[in-house]
Order: sequence, then C-alpha cells, then structure tokens
Amino acid sequence: MAGRIPEEVVEEVRTSVNITDIVGQYVQLKKSGKNLFGLCPFHEERTPSFSVTEDKQIFHCFSCGRGGNVFKFIMEIENLDFPAAVTKVAELGNVSVDLSTYQAKPQRPVDPKREKLFALYSDATVLYHHILVNTDTGEAALAYATQRNLNTTLLDTFQIGFAPQQRDLLITFFKEKQTDFQLLRQSGLFIENDDGTLRDRFVGRLMFPIRDEQGRVIAFSGRILQVAENQPKYLNSPETDLFNKRDVLFNFDLAKSEIRKAKRVILFEGFMDVIAAFQAGVKNGVASMGTSLTNEQLYHLRRATDQLVVCYDGDAPGMKATNRVIELLKDDQRFNLSIVTLPEHLDPDEYVKKYGSEQFQNEVTNSLETAPAFRLHFLKQNRNLDNEQDKIAYINDALQELVLVPSAVERDVYLNQLSEELHVSYTALVQQLQQLLKKPRLSMIVYGHSNNQKKKWCPFTSNRCIS
Ligand code: GTP
Ligand code: MN
Repeated sequence: MAGRIPEEVVEEVRTSVNITDIVGQYVQLKKSGKNLFGLCPFHEERTPSFSVTEDKQIFHCFSCGRGGNVFKFIMEIENLDFPAAVTKVAELGNVSVDLSTYQAKPQRPVDPKREKLFALYSDATVLYHHILVNTDTGEAALAYATQRNLNTTLLDTFQIGFAPQQRDLLITFFKEKQTDFQLLRQSGLFIENDDGTLRDRFVGRLMFPIRDEQGRVIAFSGRILQVAENQPKYLNSPETDLFNKRDVLFNFDLAKSEIRKAKRVILFEGFMDVIAAFQAGVKNGVASMGTSLTNEQLYHLRRATDQLVVCYDGDAPGMKATNRVIELLKDDQRFNLSIVTLPEHLDPDEYVKKYGSEQFQNEVTNSLETAPAFRLHFLKQNRNLDNEQDKIAYINDALQELVLVPSAVERDVYLNQLSEELHVSYTALVQQLQQLLKKPRLSMIVYGHSNNQKKKWCPFTSNRCIS
C-alpha cells in the first residue's frame, strides 16, 4: 500500500537537486542580478515575471503570485500530488533513491473516454506497425519506406506503419475485440457508411502516428505510396477529443529535450523532413500539421526556447510559407527568428539524401539568415538585376523592407550590402531610406516591435487578443 514518504527522504531529494536545473527543463531562464528570470509557465505573458532564487531554492511569479520549492513547482506544472512530485523531481534530477513503495496516484481525474481513445490509437499503431514490418501485406510499403531511407530504427522510433488496401482490416480487428461502437465512431479512424456501419478511413497508406507532448498517439497522417491526381498525398485524421491540429506539433515530444539542449527549435514543413533531419543528427526539429503555424503551436514552442529556425522547402511554395511565418512573428518579441533556405529548391529530406548528414547539419547551423535578409533575397527572385527597370523596382521594394528594421545598425549593414551588390551609391540609398522613414507610420508594425498597436496575450487562452 502507498505510504507517506519519510521526511528525510524528501529532504534528500530536495537537497540533491538544484531548482534551477529542474525548472530549467520547463522554462527558459536567464540570469539577471541574483535571480534567474523567465516567462511564467502558468499563464500567458510576454515579459518575464517568473523568478528562481538559487540561494533559497525557490521560485516565485510576480504576476500570478505562485511560488514555492521545487516540489511545489512540479506539482503545479505536472499536475501531480506531493509523492508523485517527489518521484518526478528525483527522476528529473537523476537522484538514486527508491521511491517505488510510495506510489502516488495522479491528481487529474482520468476521463475514461479519453483513456479509451488513447488505448484505441495505441492498438491501431501497434497493428499498422506490425503489418508494415512483419507481414507480406506490408511488403510493398516496406520497400517504399526503405527506398525513402526509413531504416528499421526509424520505423521503430516513429512507430511508422501501413494501412493496407484490404479495406476492413482495422474495423474487423476492433470488432473482434468487442470495442464499443460509439467509441469507434468517435475515434476518427473510420468513415461511416450510409447504412451506419463503419469502414477504415486509411487504406493503402504509410502511416505516421502523430503524438502528443507526452508521446501518446492521438492521430495519424497517412501517405499514399504512389501520388495520384484524385487522392491527397497525405491524409490526416479528423479532429477528435484527442486531436486538435492547431495545437499539435509533429515530434515535439521527442524533440523537446533536444530543443532545450540546442537552445533552438527547427521548424520543418513535412513529417519526412523531421524524420530525415532526425536521422541526420538534427533532432530538435518539429513540423506543423501541413497547415500554417498557429499561435497555439508557438505557445508550446516558447516554453522550450526563444530561438526559432525556419527550414521550409527551398521551392516557391516553401519560400511563400516562410514569408507567412515572418509575417506572423513580425511584431512578436517572444522569438528570435532565423531562416535556412536550402539550395536547388530541395526540401530537407531531399537535401539529406543528396548531400548527406554532415552537410545538412552545417546548413542548418551555419547558413542562417535573419528575416530581413531573407526578405531581400526573396524580393530579388524572378528579377533580372541587369535590367534597369527590374533593378529600380527591387531597390524600391528593398528599401520599403528596410523601413521595417528597427535597428539603425542593422539597416546600415543591409544598405552597405545593397550598395555593393547593385553598384548604387550608399549615400543615395540612405537618402531615399530616410525619406521613407519620415513618412507617417501610424499603424505599421515593425520587425520585433509593435509600433503603436500593442498586442496583448489573453490570460484565459493561448490566443492573442488585441486590446
Ligand atoms: P513527401 O512527398 O512524402 O516527401 O512529403 P513532403 O513533406 O515533401 O510533402 P510536401 O512538401 O508536398 O508537403 C509538406 C507537408 O504538407 C506534408 O508533410 C503534409 O503534412 C502536408 N501535406 C502535403 N500534401 C498534403 C495533402 O494532400 N493533404 C494534407 N492534408 N496535407 C498535405
Ligand atoms: Mn519531401
């Protein structure tokens, strides 16, 4: 039976860890004077009011008033009771004490329906994976996976599977298990026929499980083996009680600790890009669900880092999508944004295949551009700078872009580059830029600063509301 953890054991755990190391696994902390500061993980905020005092081994948020020792922090953030928090702290701090006799029960009331859905997804994942790696039915899909450099380790790590052509595989499996019909209906794994019966949603697709932050499978994305005109290349699960696609980042559960280690996150466009990067040793990568990045996703990322690297496909749609991220983050002070544009219109997966892991690592570490540099580079596309008209149009667009750069020093760097590259006098560029800077900019939002329209974070949701 579970018993109280003796006081001396609690003390042993508490004194064996440093609160800054434990809290640092959840919050990015920066030293300021005697204390460390970061964004409070318990509510939305844009300026750090959460502090950790190492001397006293306590935390305190000046905004919401929460505070206490390391156990209190873990109880709050992980939603655990005291014994479970002590166990978790021991785990996080690698303290070797045996706490197994003081079993804790989770505090959050378990929602039986959600638990059943998790179990259903887990069973489906195991079944699809088994079909891919162990059966004749999966042979063609396995050949496809192999040709895409998905080796056995990757297939296991990402629990990749195959939903065969044989239409009713999954529904038959669950019927045999006598799984509740309503649960199956609500799972999103099936399509309802006119007569009310269910059939498998995923057919003939390589299955990528989508995991939540705790690593539990909550959805699938299935890739067709051979792209066909009348079929989507990727088919995603519909939204369910478990899956809200605005809120999910592919691979965030595995990447989280790597993001904290590397102090930055790399955002890719596709699942295959995340996996190829992972195989190439770049493990701090995530992807949104084939949609534009959302504020909810940014909220999760911000808990892990403030350095966001965008490495989308090097083709036109990829660059357009990069522009959208720049737009989204323009007035956002939470992130420091940089961009990698891969050459030859390659996507990261293709790049790794063509140039190998080392060169890819080099590319995502050493070929970073700032947002304005990317914009200048983007504006230059499809323009022939030997043609006077194109050149003047480019200069005008480029200067309009530089108006948005708040730092005079940074503007100067780009002006020098432009002058050199276009053989235009530096003084003329400065003069023209100054004219643009003088124009009223009442509602303009500049890089990294909001000018006059202050955006605030709603305290109740992760949405940004304008006040
Ligand atoms: P591969 O062709 O398998 O290498 O995929 P990719 O990642 O190169 O695909 P692409 O660049 O075309 O798309 C990027 C991401 O957008 C994918 O990983 C998917 O998340 C998403 N996506 C692509 N095609 C579709 C589609 O037809 N439907 C949906 N819902 N999402 C898609
Ligand atoms: Mn690809």
